Amino acid sequence: MKGIILAGGGGTRLRPLTVSTNKHLLALYDKPVIYYAVKKLVDAGIDRIMIVTSPEAIESMVKLLGSGADFMSKRTGKQIQIVYGIQNQPNGIAYGLWIAKDYIGNDNCVLYLGDNIFEDDLTPHIKKFKSGATVFLKEVADPERFGIATLGQNSKILDIDEKPTKPKTNYAVTGVYMYDSTVFKKCLSLKASERGEYEITDINKQYIKDGKLHGIFLKKEWFDIGTFDSLLETANFIRNKNNDNKKK
Ligand code: DAU
Repeated sequence: MKGIILAGGGGTRLRPLTVSTNKHLLALYDKPVIYYAVKKLVDAGIDRIMIVTSPEAIESMVKLLGSGADFMSKRTGKQIQIVYGIQNQPNGIAYGLWIAKDYIGNDNCVLYLGDNIFEDDLTPHIKKFKSGATVFLKEVADPERFGIATLGQNSKILDIDEKPTKPKTNYAVTGVYMYDSTVFKKCLSLKASERGEYEITDINKQYIKDGKLHGIFLKKEWFDIGTFDSLLETANFIRNKNNDNKKK
């Protein structure tokens, strides 16, 4: 399985912090945001990763991460391989995924939204994944900010609404997704949404229609650092966790 980390987007909700830099290069306590994404995938056994970012951020991203020398592969014991894709416009998560099509080929992939921070270990889920698609869910207090899942019996996902004004549940679809290679065929039928983006929720809905979308509830903390408050809250969480680990 290969990884794709999306690190483009406008970062408009974090202006002026993001006027002269990319959201994923901002400091999150002791490291840039993007480091946490790469580390989470590498810890889960992924050692081939494409980072998709904007033309403005590509140079800084390459300066920071290069070919991946700061990260060791669990499989080979050698450095991981990082390659780059460029998304010219922030025209949607599904479009960012599409850019990695040739890199992924016939492999399965894990798509990771670079502004998401997960405490759960993804290893067992990545190991278990065979086909279809898997999303990770978390109960939230502010469902209007996310893709929101409606669940049936045994937590089966019946539908997902992207940023609903009147959310039916509090179950957010978080920013890590596992897909089989049929995902790229599904991208072809997408149309831009009202806000002008190719939505990842529309891809997930196609998997629901095929009866192939699996949902797993996260057990630990999850953050989306897309707002000032969540950026600060996440940094504090990481600092406290680091301090607790030092005491052990
Ligand atoms: O955080 C989880 C949520 O992420 C999901 O619940 C939503 O269903 C999903 O649409 C997404 O919503 P956001 O509004 O948080 O997405 P945002 O625009 O902040 O972008 C998420 C990440 O993807 C961020 O790291 C930037 C990157 N991105 C985004 C867009 C639109 C790109 O690389 N390219 C893009 O075109």
